[in-house]
Amino acid sequence: METTLVLIKPGGVQRNLIGEIVSRIERRGLKVTGLKLIHAAQETVEAHYAEHRERPFFGSVVSYLVSGPIVALAVTGDNSVKAIRAMMGATNPIDATPGTVRGDLALSIEDNLVHSSSDPEAAAAELALWFPEGTFA
Ligand code: PPS
Repeated sequence: METTLVLIKPGGVQRNLIGEIVSRIERRGLKVTGLKLIHAAQETVEAHYAEHRERPFFGSVVSYLVSGPIVALAVTGDNSVKAIRAMMGATNPIDATPGTVRGDLALSIEDNLVHSSSDPEAAAAELALWFPEGTFA
């Protein structure tokens, strides 16, 4: 069993896609073990994207993530990190396969709808950041 982090970004919340995304996760057989709708603090988002601090889009991705409410999800199941990454699709929606969340519902990298942890180590760090109180995993 593995737990991973998913963020539904402001565009996804604004477009009323929370149910669609959570439904896909649950229908796959994965369990939601943490869920909250929050207006993220700038420091939390900066810590989340810290490894990208030197990249040109850092400022804009941080501003975007704090521009409105987001949903943070902890998702648990066998190989959940890999399963969720595959379900979300390529980071740039233009490269994402149809059938994935981004391939079906997004078009631009600036609003690729969701974030998901890249590997188990990232998942552990990101879950500690977004769910310091713990999850139900
Ligand atoms: S990945 O999946 O971590 O390998 O992707 P990577 O290309 O390294 O990108 C890391 C995160 O930065 C976001 N990103 C951008 N945001 C805005 N504008 C541009 N041009 C851009 N390029 C990359 C990308 O969406 C990744 O964030 P998440 O939240 O994981 O999608």
